[in-house]
Amino acid sequence: MRNSFLTLAGISVLFFVGCKSKVPATDDLISDNVNNAVEQYSLMTNQIEKSGQVLNPRTLDKDGKTVYVPYRDWTSGFFPGSMWYLYHLTQDKKWETLAVKYTEALDSVQYLTWHHDVGFMAGCSFLNGMRLGNKDYRSVIVRTAKSLSTRFRPNAGVIQSWDVNNSWQAERGWKCPVIIDNMMNLELLFEATCFSGDSTYYNIAVSHADQTLKNHFRTDNSCYHVVDYEPETGEVRKKQTAQGYADESSWARGQAWALYGYTMCYRYTRNPAYLMQACNIYNFIFTNQKLPSDLIPYWDYDALNIPNEPRDVSAAAITASALYELSGYVADMKYKGTADKIMESLSASGYRAEIGTNGYFILKHSVGSIPHGVEIDVPLNYADYYFLEALKRKKDIGR
Ligand code: GLY
Repeated sequence: MRNSFLTLAGISVLFFVGCKSKVPATDDLISDNVNNAVEQYSLMTNQIEKSGQVLNPRTLDKDGKTVYVPYRDWTSGFFPGSMWYLYHLTQDKKWETLAVKYTEALDSVQYLTWHHDVGFMAGCSFLNGMRLGNKDYRSVIVRTAKSLSTRFRPNAGVIQSWDVNNSWQAERGWKCPVIIDNMMNLELLFEATCFSGDSTYYNIAVSHADQTLKNHFRTDNSCYHVVDYEPETGEVRKKQTAQGYADESSWARGQAWALYGYTMCYRYTRNPAYLMQACNIYNFIFTNQKLPSDLIPYWDYDALNIPNEPRDVSAAAITASALYELSGYVADMKYKGTADKIMESLSASGYRAEIGTNGYFILKHSVGSIPHGVEIDVPLNYADYYFLEALKRKKDIGR
């Protein structure tokens, strides 16, 4: 008895020593990145606050100057969202004050109906303000969901992503284009049903996720970027790309949106088909021969000149964040292990900027859209946002 107690105690000691030796590595990675982000974003926000204007940084232009965006830009929610994450990660009230200011500057987003991205815009800002700052932004979330729902085409069962009567989209001959990115907007609809009790939003989200599952994926579980529908019948007209290398190629950020989107849809619905799709997308990405060993993908898995093609750090950051969530739903350590490896890569000097450089953004080497010739190998506010979100999720798992 005494022996077995000692043996058990010995095992326990070894176990805890074993655990202890791992904990600082995780803690170090998190605290090192939080300290780094605080320094960079303090420089960034000091510069903005000094200007006396409410500015929303997205990226750097060709001359290295910061590009600021108006509230209606699809990326406007990420900068306030990053401040909510900094507040959560540091508990420093300075970040809460800034987060509230730059979130509330986006008040008009709730009325925007001419594109689908309001889920990103209000979700990263106002929804995080509710979750991380205990603010009561319920009416903004529900009003934004109402605006997004105006884009639902009931006969096709999908939310139309882009309008087709202006800008470069008008030249493509689409009728009801849906992009894989649109999966990310569904979170706002699920939350709006929780806040309002109106199941309309939930039903729209489920219909969109189901149609996308049916029509956006290839047999190898990679996805198309754009699927165009006949809005009156739901017939699929075209499967194409806008930001990828080719219609039949696999645009890296699109695969990341898909992985994140189906993981998040599982959170709200517990539909095993969504969970399975998330795992299938994981398998596509992480068995892909073109994925570099540091797990930071080229901007498209089929780009012509790999390995001489730009990487897309934003795709890696979105993927890491999604995998931390997925690891909570599947009893397989590989999801967290992969996320940890991505985070280690992103924390190294090849991808993480030196303090005071990179326009004060945290991460380097993202790609906006190569076919449009914009934002190639630059920092992007959404790469930073999902990196901070991944840090938060990693920290929460550690607890
Ligand atoms: N949602 C637009 C993009 O990923 O570039």
